[in-house]
Amino acid sequence: MSRIRTAVFPVAGRGTRFLPATKALPKEMLPIVDKPLIQYAVEEALAAGAEKLIFVTGASKRAIEDHFDVDAELERVLEQSGKMDLLKMIRSIVPRNVRCLHVRQGGPLGLGHAVLCTREAVGDEAFFVHLADDLIHSDVPCLKQMMDHYAEHGHSVLGVETVPMDQTGNYGVVAVEPEPSGAQRVTRIVEKPKPQDAPSNLAVVGRYILTPAIYDHLARTGRGAGGEIQLTDGIAGLLADEPVHVLPFSGRRYDCGSKIGYLRATVEYALRHPELGENFRAYLQGVWER
Ligand code: UTP
Repeated sequence: MSRIRTAVFPVAGRGTRFLPATKALPKEMLPIVDKPLIQYAVEEALAAGAEKLIFVTGASKRAIEDHFDVDAELERVLEQSGKMDLLKMIRSIVPRNVRCLHVRQGGPLGLGHAVLCTREAVGDEAFFVHLADDLIHSDVPCLKQMMDHYAEHGHSVLGVETVPMDQTGNYGVVAVEPEPSGAQRVTRIVEKPKPQDAPSNLAVVGRYILTPAIYDHLARTGRGAGGEIQLTDGIAGLLADEPVHVLPFSGRRYDCGSKIGYLRATVEYALRHPELGENFRAYLQGVWER
């Protein structure tokens, strides 16, 4: 089974839950300690073997293009002031063999529409979709876990985790059945079901491997929940044509599209940070004892 070379990063949402911070700044540029969410996303995709990075951008997203472009002026300043470690770090954000493409989504018509916009840029091969606001900390990067599953089975894979039943309305939710291979195959997928209508409490999070067959389905998908073209509805169409698997990945997920998830990630990544961790832990203990 061939490996996956292309990663799609939909970053064209408006991030309304984070206003006013996201009025001019893309949500995906919010930092967790010292790195923007989108850079964690890119690092995860590179670790899974991606060489072509496609960003689906919208209004106010120039900062993302700039972040992954060469900044000759900054490099000159760092070089002249002898800050060689920082220079090296800045230059390693995108390795030389990796290509970045930016595709514009005309308006925020939904995640399914954002993915559909990448049809020509992706071409006729399977690809990753990574939502940067779902940050996942794990020993083996989540997309790599999914890539290993794809290498074995060759079908689309959805990253899933169990959520409390009262939260199904925030996610795409799947019903699954086991295959003889031991893999779990999706039998049904529903966008944001109420708990009483949910087929399970197995929620799809922001990691996907999709075969190019998804594009025909997305092209046929009309506006669904919230008046948007939903990726979930495209996947529901794909189920009828070919197997779609789930992977309950190992790792800890932070929903950085919500303020509380963002704060949890900030605290826990700061505690794990090699330079800051110890100081920050002492500081937090002080706050607690005040
Ligand atoms: P969200 O559901 O988190 O929406 O999108 P949002 O607009 O970013 O944020 P809120 O809910 O208003 O606070 C999930 C992912 O899909 C992308 C977003 O950028 C995010 O990564 N997206 C969503 C698009 O690229 N285009 C869209 O039309 C909608």
